[in-house]
Amino acid sequence: MISIVGTGRVGASIAFLCVSHGLDDVLLVNRTKEKAIGESLDVASAIPADSKFSVRGTDNYSELVGSDIVIIAASVGVYTKDRSENIDLQVKMIKGIAEKTKQYCPSAIVLIVSNPLDVLTYYFQKTSEFPRFKVIGIASSLDTSRFRYYISETLSVPQSSISNALVLGEHGDTMVPIFSGVSVGGNPLFSMIDSRDAITENVRNYWRTLRNYKSRSQFGIAKNTFDVVNAILNKKEITIPASVVLDGEYGEQNIAMGVPVKINQNGVSEIQQIKLDDTESSSLKKSSEKIRNDINSVHE
Ligand SMILES: NC(=O)c1ccc[n+]([C@@H]2O[C@H](COP(=O)([O-])OP(=O)(O)OC[C@H]3O[C@@H](n4cnc5c(N)ncnc54)[C@H](OP(=O)(O)O)[C@@H]3O)[C@@H](O)[C@H]2O)c1
Repeated sequence: MISIVGTGRVGASIAFLCVSHGLDDVLLVNRTKEKAIGESLDVASAIPADSKFSVRGTDNYSELVGSDIVIIAASVGVYTKDRSENIDLQVKMIKGIAEKTKQYCPSAIVLIVSNPLDVLTYYFQKTSEFPRFKVIGIASSLDTSRFRYYISETLSVPQSSISNALVLGEHGDTMVPIFSGVSVGGNPLFSMIDSRDAITENVRNYWRTLRNYKSRSQFGIAKNTFDVVNAILNKKEITIPASVVLDGEYGEQNIAMGVPVKINQNGVSEIQQIKLDDTESSSLKKSSEKIRNDINSVHE
């Protein structure tokens, strides 16, 4: 069973993809019960005719029993200036959800979607004491989609011609697009742009640009989360950047941060150490410092 905790815009969009692809039974858990039931009734009409799975909504965490995957997309408020804005409330929320997850489905793989993403991934893992490779923060793959989008728009090339685009570090203003490995149509990206600044700024500010036109995003993160659920349940290994609690990788400890990982049916199977140029290495250091400061700023 796939359980989705928090069925606002993002949780409901993830539910729609999981249900309409007939991946598994889906449980929606929301603070306000009516919203969970309403969204479950809506997406239930998207169950394929040949599916053996169903969907239901509840506010009762004890129904998490039997979950193979728990996706957390709950949020107590909307940030407007920075993803870390509601950090104390969000950390309090994630700790509560971590306790319940540990109580009712201690063997589940957990995908964190709520912001501030890296901080919440860290606190979920510490509170639940789940193996660190079973708590995966999904965001850097979304940031990578946005990086690919802006390369494609800047150079007027299709995304299919772009290889090895990757964003690492914080899911926030210090995220680090990795330009040095990117090629476009087989040629290095660096041979086609004067500087990395404009694309980097656009990727970091994607959510701000979007909010000029729509209250907040939902579909990109839903697709990137669905891809991970699909890989886990269908036992297909994928390599994406995702946030994991680090234990020496990239020289970091006691934080979660977006790094390249392999994911299989058991969760993260490997953190890949990739080559970065000097600019990227120092930007990643700044990014990890920002996450560490945020973690330490929390009033528990
Ligand atoms: N990782 C990424 O790249 C990415 C991308 C986009 C968004 N996000 C994040 O995803 C989260 C959800 O965004 P959204 O736009 O879907 O927010 P939203 O529409 O405000 O929905 C949040 C939902 O969480 C529920 N909730 C709050 N506390 C809960 C709890 N303890 N247990 C269960 N449900 C609870 C709320 O219930 P009520 O109905 O009672 O209010 C609400 O339905 C946010 O943190 C957002 O920043 C992440």
